[in-house]
Amino acid sequence: MSEIRIKLLDAFTNAGETFLSGQYLADLIGCSRTAVWKHIEELRKEGFELEAVRNKGYRVVKTPERITADEIRLGLQTNLIGRNIYYEESVESTQIIAKLLSNENVPEGTVIIAEEQLSGKGRMNRTWHSPKYTGIWMSLILRPNIPLTKAPQLTLLTAVAIVHAIEEETGLQPEIKWPNDILLAGKKVTGILTELHAEADRIHSIIIGIGINVNQKMEDFPRELQEKASSLAIEKGELMSRAGLIRSFFKHFEKLYMLYLEQGFFPIKLLWEGHAVSIGKILKARTLTNVIEGKALGITDDGVLILEDETGYIHHIYSADIEV
Ligand code: BTN
Repeated sequence: MSEIRIKLLDAFTNAGETFLSGQYLADLIGCSRTAVWKHIEELRKEGFELEAVRNKGYRVVKTPERITADEIRLGLQTNLIGRNIYYEESVESTQIIAKLLSNENVPEGTVIIAEEQLSGKGRMNRTWHSPKYTGIWMSLILRPNIPLTKAPQLTLLTAVAIVHAIEEETGLQPEIKWPNDILLAGKKVTGILTELHAEADRIHSIIIGIGINVNQKMEDFPRELQEKASSLAIEKGELMSRAGLIRSFFKHFEKLYMLYLEQGFFPIKLLWEGHAVSIGKILKARTLTNVIEGKALGITDDGVLILEDETGYIHHIYSADIEV
């Protein structure tokens, strides 16, 4: 952290609720007023709320809500998921850390959570916008004893668990767009990226990356995302506790995961279909090489989307962007 930032934060700490003028801060720190202003803007971007009053100056009215592993653990109702949490302030991608940790044989259910990702990974080689203190950026390590081909089922299971957690924490009713986008009012609030690490035909680990837009305001999203993305806070009209949502997700995920290991995919598939926005509708599936239009008939037991085009031909879609 820069010397100016440290002195600025010290000054605000000592001032409590008293306003400090730009000139006072500049003199105290020994820098220009422009430098003070620049650092104040940086703090705002990090989630600090600073009140500015003409002829008085600035004061801190709210600090960013950090998620701490202790805060999540308090009240956690699981035996496996989230019992072991790695919390990072800033990382390239939680997926990368999860992969390294999974090679060190950390227990199943280990979760890596970061306040910010500098190169968050999305599906289909896209990036995932992961600004500081606003969302939930986490990766979950699983080691199920299932055949490789069944791994995509866990992505669908994750989507159902997120829907249940959002319902519980917000009272809103999200929809799932195949394969794993969670929508509120037609806009994406959550993305899931599943990465599989296997040797021969044995799963070493499945890393489920989850990005939930929680407390962003619309202007926090890059302009090109503003039409299609949203956050829980925007849709609910109030800020949410990220730690509470994480705990709720762990609880719902564990419940569904145990059900899955005992009874297989069928009960999960029913739950998934109950929340799916796309089934029965005419969709456009944009794959890396092709665009297929047709009616979504459902998903297979492996989570593959079944589309019937206008000639009656049945397509199996393994990976695509869907336009409803
Ligand atoms: C998508 O494109 O819809 C999937 C987005 C997945 C984003 C999450 S955020 C936590 C984890 N770490 C990453 O780098 N990506 C996933």
